Amino acid sequence: MSTQPKDQRLKSKALETRLTHTGRPDGAPSHAINLAPQRASTLLVNKAEDLYAPGIKTYGLQGMDVHDAAKAALCTLEKADHCILVESGLLACTLPIFTFVGAGDHVLLPGNVYGPTRRYCERSLKRLGGQVSYYNADIGADIEGLIQDNTKLIILESPGSLTFEMPDIRAIVEVARKREVLTALDNSWSAGVYLNPLDLGVDMSILATTKYAVGHADSFSGAILVKDKRIFSKLTEASADLGLFTSADDAYLLLRGLRTLTVRMQRHQQSALDIARWLNELPEVEQVFHPALETDAYHQLWKRDFTGASGLFAFSINAADDGTDLAFLNALELFGLGFSYGGFESLAINCGPQLKRSATTPPSNKPIIRLAIGLEDPEDLKQDLAQAFTSALRT
Ligand SMILES: Cc1ncc(COP(=O)(O)O)c(C=O)c1O
Repeated sequence: MSTQPKDQRLKSKALETRLTHTGRPDGAPSHAINLAPQRASTLLVNKAEDLYAPGIKTYGLQGMDVHDAAKAALCTLEKADHCILVESGLLACTLPIFTFVGAGDHVLLPGNVYGPTRRYCERSLKRLGGQVSYYNADIGADIEGLIQDNTKLIILESPGSLTFEMPDIRAIVEVARKREVLTALDNSWSAGVYLNPLDLGVDMSILATTKYAVGHADSFSGAILVKDKRIFSKLTEASADLGLFTSADDAYLLLRGLRTLTVRMQRHQQSALDIARWLNELPEVEQVFHPALETDAYHQLWKRDFTGASGLFAFSINAADDGTDLAFLNALELFGLGFSYGGFESLAINCGPQLKRSATTPPSNKPIIRLAIGLEDPEDLKQDLAQAFTSALRT
C-alpha cells in the first residue's frame, strides 16, 4: 500500500504532525492505524519476468512496508533524503567507518567517543589495515592540522559520551568540506529531535534508535540518515555485502516509538534540567555535566546548534574515588542500575571503569555518575537521589 501521496502533503507540517502521520497506510477503504510487522524472508513474485526485474522487492532482506515506513519517519525527523536501518546503534556508528575507511585509510575520532566505536576502530579497523587517531572535542577549526592525505572520515559525537563535551560542529564541518573529508555525527543524545546535523553540513547523521526513538528499553535498532545519494549508495552496498537487517518486529517497535517521541523528549528534557539544576546547588556535587545548564562550559555551543536537550547527563560526587559512587548507586531505590538511556525508567551508572580518553583528560578526578532521567515525577527522583547521598556520604 503506497504511503507516498500523503507523505508528500505532510512535508510542510510541523515535526510533531509529520512524526504522527508519516509512513501511515493511505488510500485503502479502511485500515489499521499501525502497519503490521511482516516477518518475511522469501517474497513471491507473480510472474517469472519479475524474479530479476529491477525495482521489485524479491527478498525480505530488502525490507517490508514497516521498514519503509520507519525509514520515512526517520527521514522526516532528521530532514534526510535517505535512511539506512541497521540492527543496533553501534552498527550505525561502525558502518560508515567500515564503508569509507579501507586498508591504508585514516579516520579521526573524538577523544570522548562512545567506547564501542573506539573499540571497533582499535580492533577491527586496524585488523583491516585502517588507521585511527583522536582529536580533543574542543579542537574546532584546528582539526585541519590532524587531517592527513589518507584521512577519509571524521567522526563527531555531540555531546561526547559520559562527560558531555561538545565539538564545534560548524567549524569542523567547514574544514572537512574544504579538505573533502566525509563527516558522520553520532546524534543519539538529541534523538534527532533537538539537532539536525545534516542542516549543518554533516554528511551522515547516526542515531542509536534503541534509545529515545524506541523509548521502552525493549528493542534494538540504529539508523544512518543522509542527503547525498552517492553516500547512501555506498552505505547500502556495504550493508548488503554484510547482510545487515533490522527485524520486522524491531522496525515496528521503532516506528511506534517515533509516534510519541517528541512528547516524551519534552518530558525527559524538563525533568533532567530540573534535576541537573537541583544537583548543581548541592554541596555533595562537585560538577554537573549538562550542556543545557547555563553554568556548563559548552552551553553557548549547545544554544547555538541545538533546540533542546535530552534526559541524559552526568555529575561528579564531591568525594574521594574510594567506592562512594558504588555506595551511592546501591542506595538508589527508584533509579535502575543499568546501561543505555531513552526508556521510560530512570537509570544510573558509575562512569569510572569505562572512562577511556585520548587527546584529552576526563573533566574531573572525582567519581562520575551518569543519570538517564526517565518519565517518573522529578520530585520523587530528587528524593531518591537525596537519600542516596545521605546514605553514601554518612560515614
Ligand atoms: C552515543 C551512543 N551511540 C551509540 C550507541 C549504541 O547503541 P546500541 O546500544 O543500540 O548499540 C550508544 C549506546 O549506548 C550510545 O550511547
